Amino acid sequence: MCGIVGYIGGEQAAPFLLTGLQKLEYRGYDSAGVAVYNGTGIHVVKSKGRLSVLDGILQGGEKLPGVVGIGHTRWATHGAPSDVNSHPQVSDGGKFAVVHNGIIENYLELKNHLLRRGIEFVSDTDTEVVAQLLEYYYRGDVLEAISRVTARVEGSYALGIICADCPEKVFAVRKDSPLIVGLGQGENFIASDIPAILSKTRDICRLHDKEIAVLEKDGVQFFNSDMELVEKPVERVQWDVAAAEKGGYEHFMMKEICEQPEALRKTISPRIREGKIVLDDMKLTKEQIEKINKVFIVACGTSYHVGVVAKYAFEKLLKVPMEVDVASEFRYREPILDENTLVIIISQSGETADTLAALREAKKRGARVLSIVNVVGSTIANESDDVLYTWAGPEIAVASTKAYSTQLAVIYLIVLYMAQELGHSPQAEMEAYLEDLQRLPDLAAACLADKKTIQYFASKYFNARDMYFIGRNVDYAASLEASLKLKEISYIHSEAYTGGELKHGPISLLEDGTLVIAICTYGRLFDKMMSNVREVKARGAVVLGITTRDKEESLSQQTDYQFCIPKITDFMLPSLSIIPLQLFAYYVASMKGCDIDKPRNLAKSVTVE
Ligand code: G6P
Repeated sequence: MCGIVGYIGGEQAAPFLLTGLQKLEYRGYDSAGVAVYNGTGIHVVKSKGRLSVLDGILQGGEKLPGVVGIGHTRWATHGAPSDVNSHPQVSDGGKFAVVHNGIIENYLELKNHLLRRGIEFVSDTDTEVVAQLLEYYYRGDVLEAISRVTARVEGSYALGIICADCPEKVFAVRKDSPLIVGLGQGENFIASDIPAILSKTRDICRLHDKEIAVLEKDGVQFFNSDMELVEKPVERVQWDVAAAEKGGYEHFMMKEICEQPEALRKTISPRIREGKIVLDDMKLTKEQIEKINKVFIVACGTSYHVGVVAKYAFEKLLKVPMEVDVASEFRYREPILDENTLVIIISQSGETADTLAALREAKKRGARVLSIVNVVGSTIANESDDVLYTWAGPEIAVASTKAYSTQLAVIYLIVLYMAQELGHSPQAEMEAYLEDLQRLPDLAAACLADKKTIQYFASKYFNARDMYFIGRNVDYAASLEASLKLKEISYIHSEAYTGGELKHGPISLLEDGTLVIAICTYGRLFDKMMSNVREVKARGAVVLGITTRDKEESLSQQTDYQFCIPKITDFMLPSLSIIPLQLFAYYVASMKGCDIDKPRNLAKSVTVE
């Protein structure tokens, strides 16, 4: 949700800012802008539309000389996407330029306060309040002005700031929105995320809430909220630069779909040793596991759908009561938690605002928090009692694929680990589960091998107006995710329903030729699903059925098209059934000419409520 970058050094700032922003465009892409100090003052260029529009205006940065600057790619929250609402926002007197990720919740009150003092505003943004407030408080010391502003504003922010009076410095501060500082040789950087600076440096410092960074060409100083100088540890980023590049694929989404077997291998293999699950990072003891009286899973979007699968696995193996909730609901409920409640937080980015708030709410209510996170060192990871990382590598496409797969894998690891500690399941059963978990990467690769079937099917239905996904038990959980993938990137209206619930409403929407995708991999309820398939076919639907290989023949008697996946432990089935449906969403969107990696109105990392 908005990407920010900043540069100070010996080279031209604008070309770097544009390339950095390109790596952050996944965070928002309705407008973009940069501000560069050009030797005499701050020069701002910004434009509604994709970053490519700005890049064209600036001719790759050539048009904006200067060695100090900040840049922004926006996902609008306050004020429609427009040139004037784009960032950087500049103060009335032109001294301060600011880029912002987050939401200033009390901006109206602050804006009215400044309006009464004759300060003129030009935009509808909350960010402009920060720029104006900085100049309002400025008495010759930028650091002091920043400190006074952060004491006044409420909400979330990552801010990059330059001041015309201090052309040899870039300032940064954050609260509840991510921000890193990159340390180079004779140049330093700020960014919302690592890919933006990876071509320049691997040495980074993470800012904590309300810490301020002051960047100069040859060094960076950090201050805490009391304006005391602090030392920050330097982290060396281990990523492969190529991991954040498309590597020959047309879209990040297809690259990430194809990376799933490898990501699964990296997430699972190191955690199974000598026939046992070993979770080195888990501090939860056997005694604490024994005392767990309830498990909550809380997350948003695709990560929430992982929770829906998890419920079936937890209940089956651990016989523990379990609830799954979306974070934006959980945080405002009155959930009943105590010290024996385990709250599992799932987040690819580790920064989703609602998920972070839910984590804090759970901790406030005394629960223990275990998080499943992909981004190392993210806020959610830092604030959890236990963290288990997914080793998916950077996920850039807005539509999540490999994060989903690896989050599921970590869920299986947790469930099996707890079952192992509790000794609930017979040894032979546990061995079979572990064997299947280890086969998962190869089985995922086998599902990917048959792209052609799905491509052909997509070519027949990419013009559909609506689609329905049905399934029962874990197949219902996979339906939710499959439906989300399709609507996110192809803009086709789709819904996911349990097979049994169809006749309570959605069946009335079926017409001749409506496409229904029936996920029928869960053996125990296969016959029930076949009844549902007959019901929808009787109303004229065309049905694509997905099942396991052993059921292919029975399925083909009832459905128009079939796709088969290998057989595996029941609760792991969504890991395989989702793959053809990720491909289906991709091909449909591609045939419709949609912008697959950057679907309209969406952003990868939702750091606002
Ligand atoms: C956004 C993304 C989704 C993601 C969700 C939760 O909606 O577009 O792909 O599943 O946020 O994000 P998280 O980083 O917390 O998993």
